[in-house]
Amino acid sequence: MFWGAKYPIVLAPMGGVGTVELAAAVSNAGGIGSLAAAYLSPQEITRQINELRSRIDRPFAVNLFAQETKPLDRDPEPMLSLLARFHEELGLAPPALPQKPAEVFEEQAAALLEAKVPIFSFTLGIPRAKLLADFESSGTIVAGTATTLAEAIALRDSGVDAIIAQGAEAGAHRGTFLDDYEKSLVPAVTLVKQIRNSLSLPVIASGGIRHGKAIAEFLDQGAAAVQIGTAFIPCPESSASDVYKRAIMTGRPEAKSVITLAFSGRPARGLSNRFIEEIEKHAEFILPFPWQNAATRALRNAAAKAGRSEFLSLWAGRGATPLRQMPAELLFKTLVKEAGL
Ligand SMILES: Cc1cc2nc3c(=O)[nH]c(=O)nc-3n(C[C@H](O)[C@H](O)[C@H](O)COP(=O)(O)O)c2cc1C
Repeated sequence: MFWGAKYPIVLAPMGGVGTVELAAAVSNAGGIGSLAAAYLSPQEITRQINELRSRIDRPFAVNLFAQETKPLDRDPEPMLSLLARFHEELGLAPPALPQKPAEVFEEQAAALLEAKVPIFSFTLGIPRAKLLADFESSGTIVAGTATTLAEAIALRDSGVDAIIAQGAEAGAHRGTFLDDYEKSLVPAVTLVKQIRNSLSLPVIASGGIRHGKAIAEFLDQGAAAVQIGTAFIPCPESSASDVYKRAIMTGRPEAKSVITLAFSGRPARGLSNRFIEEIEKHAEFILPFPWQNAATRALRNAAAKAGRSEFLSLWAGRGATPLRQMPAELLFKTLVKEAGL
């Protein structure tokens, strides 16, 4: 048993990819489903939690980005005119920045508290002490994301119940919040070992896990659980577009796994494509998160609809095992069997 679930396997929260259906499938199969709530309004968070609760009677996690939006500190025009060229190719109106580029973390967290979620996980920082104390007193288990031992220690000092060790292989945004991301790329195996040797908190290993054998290895090394994202993207329950699923499953021979700021303004891992190559030639124009994310949103949405993978954020972890496409419950059971759990 791990946090009330039969198996120590957590479905990673996946912004823009995860769904209530995917989380429900994993929780019902005996794991812990996660809802990625970072991009959702407080009302939508409450709605999804209620919907998930109507489908499961088991533990689940809800995840947020623990950070506040800072006012834009530079002229967005150079980036917007760069993006306008791609907009033209897709027949879109020129890009514009919204007034509010992201939801407000404290308001989202209030929705989680109100809903008394069983598990709250977060990344990109550490919430203020009062908020963590509120979760604690409402009986919620709290897990924070670390990409280095120093971050794990900072999280321990903040009073979290568990550390999600996000290895360098992990797909999408780097959780790094203390140092430069280039200095915080520790392979998952090493990171788990470092944290286990220094802290007594449960560690959840994450990054590049696609096969049950890797689950067994991390558990052998003392991880309390694993958190898996990319392996579930091809599932029919994920909301990833077909072109995204195809790209990460087949991978053009030249498609490299890279970490880029081009889509969101924060480092994130995915497959390289034309958008990344062209934007990175003008790296000085990239806006800070979440402004860059807001600036590229219309293009990404249109590219998904038009099947144009060259403009899509193809977030995926780095892993040797080919991805498998099957219903989430079957994939979960396959992983459990391979891991010998
Ligand atoms: C498409 C995608 C979206 C993600 N979104 C989030 C998120 O919203 N919050 C978060 O804490 N982690 C997010 N992650 C990172 C995962 O928590 C985890 O670190 C990663 O999936 C592990 O590597 P793997 O994808 O190789 O399994 C995301 C990962 C992917 C692939």
